[in-house]
Amino acid sequence: MMNDLLGLMIAFVLTFSGLLYYTYDNLEYKGYPRVNSCTGECYEEYVRIHGTTVEQLMAKQEAAASDPFSSIRGLWAGCAACHGQEGQGMGVFPALVGQNKDYIITALNQYKNKETRGAMSSTMWAQAGMLSEQEIETLSEYIEQL
Ligand code: HEC
Repeated sequence: MMNDLLGLMIAFVLTFSGLLYYTYDNLEYKGYPRVNSCTGECYEEYVRIHGTTVEQLMAKQEAAASDPFSSIRGLWAGCAACHGQEGQGMGVFPALVGQNKDYIITALNQYKNKETRGAMSSTMWAQAGMLSEQEIETLSEYIEQL
């Protein structure tokens, strides 16, 4: 009897979390809501709350356009792996937060030209070598405002 109850409970929890995951997967994760199975009144209600798919895409584009750092957020994720999410530094990796834009631009250009600043400059040569002038500029602005 107890075992049956336990089995039922486990089945319920599994189904429920599966449903949650399925809903999340459909509505949020892919970015493109699937409304195929929701037509007529259901669809009207959905659009009333969330807007049409096109409206949702436009809102996302506007959000990206109003983010002056959207072009380097992906790059920064790489930098942050060593320098920390907030540029706070980690162990041997120097902090960047608190430095001004010109300081960062100078450092990155030195690394790009394979110049030596500290004992571990060679680590930064590969990092800075692939950055464009525009990326160096935007990254430096981003770091300045951290
Ligand atoms: C693999 C780890 C690693 C990654 C990834 C990395 N860095 Fe560095 N960074 C270092 C190390 C180590 C130093 C110290 C180099 C030296 O001794 O000159 C450094 C130094 C710097 C400095 C000079 C700091 C100072 O005060 O002299 C700047 C600026 C910098 N990095 C920016 C960046 C940016 C921007 C990125 C992403 C494009 C990045 N780093 C990615 C490890 C890393």
